[in-house]
Amino acid sequence: MTIGLLKEPEGENRVALLPESAKALIQLQVQIIVESGAGEKAYASDKDYEAVGASIHSRAEVLQADLILGIQPPSEEEQLSLKDGQVLVCLFQPLSNKELVERFLDKKITSFSMDNVPRTTRAQAMDVLSSMATVAGYKAVLMAASHSPRFFPMFMTAAGSIIPSKVLILGAGVAGLQAIASARRLGAVVEAFDVRAAAQEEVKSLGAKFVKVEGAKDEASAGGYAVEQSEEYKAKQQALIQEHAKKSNIIICTAQIPGRKAPVLITKETVAEMAPGSVIVDLAASTGGNCELTENNQINEKHGVTIIGDSNLPGTMPMDASKMYGKNMVNFLKLIIGKEGELMLNWEDDIVQNTCVTHQGEIRSERVKNILYPSEIN
Ligand code: NAI
Repeated sequence: MTIGLLKEPEGENRVALLPESAKALIQLQVQIIVESGAGEKAYASDKDYEAVGASIHSRAEVLQADLILGIQPPSEEEQLSLKDGQVLVCLFQPLSNKELVERFLDKKITSFSMDNVPRTTRAQAMDVLSSMATVAGYKAVLMAASHSPRFFPMFMTAAGSIIPSKVLILGAGVAGLQAIASARRLGAVVEAFDVRAAAQEEVKSLGAKFVKVEGAKDEASAGGYAVEQSEEYKAKQQALIQEHAKKSNIIICTAQIPGRKAPVLITKETVAEMAPGSVIVDLAASTGGNCELTENNQINEKHGVTIIGDSNLPGTMPMDASKMYGKNMVNFLKLIIGKEGELMLNWEDDIVQNTCVTHQGEIRSERVKNILYPSEIN
């Protein structure tokens, strides 16, 4: 089987596979063809890929590979040129990309979307969303620190003492926990809030205080993700967050319910009550933001508060983000590549079944089917 590695579009610095991961794949008896310049922005040259046994080709040639790897999917025109039975593994958010899913159905493309990897213990090593959220949580804190007019740690100096910054983290999932750890490492006083009761112990173990709103609906069946809350709970939560936000110098927003618009936790009234010089970094910017005043991919200042909405923080750390993405890819590909380097799809495997969006003109992922075609169920 040939595996083709695409160069990402302009504005994306990551690559789906660094040479070290390409080397691991070659050991699976496959041939790797790489689009010239694919790794350039992640500091991997064509020569580095050749040194591990991959070969360099044009984009048109890579698009003919049996299995194509990327982060972003190929362009619409390129998707239309794909052939029946080709396999595509990338991140294409099928839940908000119905048109693209329908193109793959029409063209009988076997498509895997890495954001569909289930959040189970066995799938952890393939979970690119967790890897990218880890990068984003860390980088969000660094951005907050560099935009803040204050120190993070406490200082006792001859010029007087400096009190530490107060950081509030909203949502203590993967990105939130990494943000807590990073803010603590920089010496800030950190508190965090989440609707899932299970998050409380994790928050405390990282040395942060857990802000608790009583009465949250917390469904274990949601696979580690949050569920929609009642209106009464949301009102209580809003009041408590407002109270804590007013006392914070930095807020990092990471709250999400997969497949939904991000919950609004910081209203414009709350921003108006925050101290001038405060900074909000909103990781949920691409799904509407946890802060009402966030603008996607913009940095703006409202009421003296800097609000940062950057949807591709992993792209600002292309080396390690690509390294993590590539390792996740290799672990996933090991599940669908047989001993002779052939495609081997085991539909009994829940990771293969859930990550696959389309195959031979049908939708495989139950989650995608339920959300995109609810009327066809039953
Ligand atoms: P996650 O699902 O692991 O964590 C989200 C957390 O938010 C969960 O713990 C959940 O319980 C909590 N939550 C949901 N509703 C809430 C509410 N109303 N109040 C408080 N907490 C609530 O998600 P993950 O992987 O940590 O990602 C977090 C966000 O970061 C997502 O919006 C994701 O799209 C975004 N992200 C942004 C990146 C960027 O570059 N800006 C890169 C990677 C992720």
